[in-house]
Amino acid sequence: MGFATNAIHVGQEPDPSTGAVVLPIYQTSTYVYEELGKSRGGYDYARTNHPNRKALERTLAKLEGALASYVFTSGMAAIDSVFRLLRPGDHVVLSEAVYGGVYRLTTQLLVHFGLEFSFVDTSDPAVVLGAFRPNTKMIYIETPTNPTLRITDISAMAKLANERRATLVVDNTFLTPYLQRPIELGAHIVVHSLTKYLNGHSDATGGAVVLTRTDDAEKIYFIQRSAGAGLAPMDCFLTSRGLKTLAIRMLQHNANGLAVARHLDAHPKVRKVFYPGLVNHPQHELARRQQKGPGAMLSFDLGSEDAARRFLNQVKICSLAESLGGVESLISLPAQMTHASMPKEVRDRVGITDSLVRLSVGIEDVEDIVADIDQALLYI
Ligand SMILES: Cc1ncc(COP(=O)(O)O)c(C=O)c1O
Repeated sequence: MGFATNAIHVGQEPDPSTGAVVLPIYQTSTYVYEELGKSRGGYDYARTNHPNRKALERTLAKLEGALASYVFTSGMAAIDSVFRLLRPGDHVVLSEAVYGGVYRLTTQLLVHFGLEFSFVDTSDPAVVLGAFRPNTKMIYIETPTNPTLRITDISAMAKLANERRATLVVDNTFLTPYLQRPIELGAHIVVHSLTKYLNGHSDATGGAVVLTRTDDAEKIYFIQRSAGAGLAPMDCFLTSRGLKTLAIRMLQHNANGLAVARHLDAHPKVRKVFYPGLVNHPQHELARRQQKGPGAMLSFDLGSEDAARRFLNQVKICSLAESLGGVESLISLPAQMTHASMPKEVRDRVGITDSLVRLSVGIEDVEDIVADIDQALLYI
């Protein structure tokens, strides 16, 4: 079956007990036993599992072409569970411009449990190789990076990881399996913030770990049910509903993203646009090879923090808000919002300047988005 068909049908078979076409929300914490030691339908307690979670996990595994997936209360909870596959003394090489929450989790929390982290420019395989230590067990990449839109060659990273017996983890939040297929390129684990494009409607948080190896899958399921951060029924239901329109949404996101990026690129008040779909992006060719489309995340520099502030205070269709990937255009200033937990010297080094604006282009009429940007640019 094709991607759109799988997104609508896999895991979403009619409810066996009623025939309901849409799986009902199983809003219950516990399930009655048939008899001692025997559950009725395979469920006993909602922390461990429930039908809405199982349905969503099946859809996600299918869409990523994976063995299994497990869903968590947020992208960060999912990412945290992946790092729990490691042991004290293990070392991880990460993309230097990762989402600020990942930077905070690793440098301020997980280091206290004996894990070691090196942040490097993963767009250069030689740099990644140079960062390897005898105890390196994992490469963790975001591609494109948030918010600088740098691209890492997933196949090159997979080759490196396999040669060194390390696990390659790819955060596929920005592109979704519709636009990028990390597992086909050799990734061992894919993570997602479901909060973004996969849900697509900005009405629930969630995260997913998508796996290719039985051993990892068993461990992640153990972590999910033991630590208790599995996604709740209502949030699974909302995410499953959003997923059904993923293919068609991503097509429109792509078209709008490209149109807005080209418009900004030609605007005299915009210093620089970062978008893999533009031919002037330094890794445009790699993006074309590796991705099915450029996506709808872009950043642009307005030259000064003051200009960025004045612009952001004037936009109307684009909502000034954290997060991304919703049907609505969301705009932010990463240095003060999503990446505020990253020290300024690190932000400066990786290119997250105080005047860098990030835009998640929604699927409103593109003329309205462009008109909104243009009227706000008049204020700078
Ligand atoms: C690329 C990326 N990964 C992970 C996360 C974390 O996801 P969540 O906010 O659902 O915990 C985010 C959040 O913005 C993100 O942008």
